[in-house]
Amino acid sequence: MNDLRHLMSPMDFSTEELENLFDVAVDIENNMSKYAHMCDDKILATCFYEPSTRTRLSFETAMLRLGGKVIGFADASNSSASKGESVADTIRVISCFADICAMRHPKEGAPMVAADHSLIPVINAGDGGHQHPTQTLTDLLTIRNLHGNLHNFTIGLCGDLKFGRTVHSLINALSRYTGITFIFISPNELRIPDYITDMLKHKNIPYREVIRLEDVMPELDFLYMTRVQKERFFNEEDYIRLKDFYILDKAKIQLAKENMYVLHPLPRVNEISVEIDNDKRAAYFKQVQNGLYVRMALILTLLDMTKSHINHNLLKEY
Ligand code: CP
Repeated sequence: MNDLRHLMSPMDFSTEELENLFDVAVDIENNMSKYAHMCDDKILATCFYEPSTRTRLSFETAMLRLGGKVIGFADASNSSASKGESVADTIRVISCFADICAMRHPKEGAPMVAADHSLIPVINAGDGGHQHPTQTLTDLLTIRNLHGNLHNFTIGLCGDLKFGRTVHSLINALSRYTGITFIFISPNELRIPDYITDMLKHKNIPYREVIRLEDVMPELDFLYMTRVQKERFFNEEDYIRLKDFYILDKAKIQLAKENMYVLHPLPRVNEISVEIDNDKRAAYFKQVQNGLYVRMALILTLLDMTKSHINHNLLKEY
């Protein structure tokens, strides 16, 4: 399998490939029934060594909506990892059963180890505080749908910018588009890592770091809220001190543009008040829905059912 392709980082796809992927995702949203049998003979394995609601269930729904089947585990304690089996051996075993695997792991780089030993495409469904590329694809598709394209806007990223892997993946991915200004909103303890600001400096991409959300709210086209990542803290006291540092409520959103959008990878804890859910600027549940379409498109892409192949060969019989 020389042409085996994995997804470890959103940068694994060129911007042109991402456009194709998003076009497929939009087509799936509008014409779901066309895709209902494309993976009739395919099996997805979901290997989740860390808790998940959206990512695992949207992957599983994606494969089921494509006509395929799903196997896997949602908890490492129910797998032979609990007996000491390595990720490398696990993926060799999964390769005997499934056609594609989505893996989440608390250790950074574990899905990359799996990809190195795999006979099937491996998708990084989140590795420690490192990357979460399919959340990024979801975020990019949502921004593209709301803004019309992925250029020329100001995005504020707010909350736990130190441990939040969705933030790290998204900034990397957006750094390839033009006219984007980043505003990082966090307490000092949860600042964006230096390797990301170094990358932005290197590429001459404008960014600012601030502590108060209110100070920058009127400038934003998108506000990407994040929860404080309890599971990555070494010290419970620090978590308790920082967890409610930002709460987006009606008073704060009144400072925003009428056409600003609020995104959040979810799960939410307290950082967005439920009173915001009915505001027309709240886009986070639509973001979840987009995650299904983009994961369907991703499965088709990694199984080498490219857009032209889908259009010209597979769709003709539906
Ligand atoms: N956004 C996200 O990764 O959610 P889950 O942890 O529920 O999969």
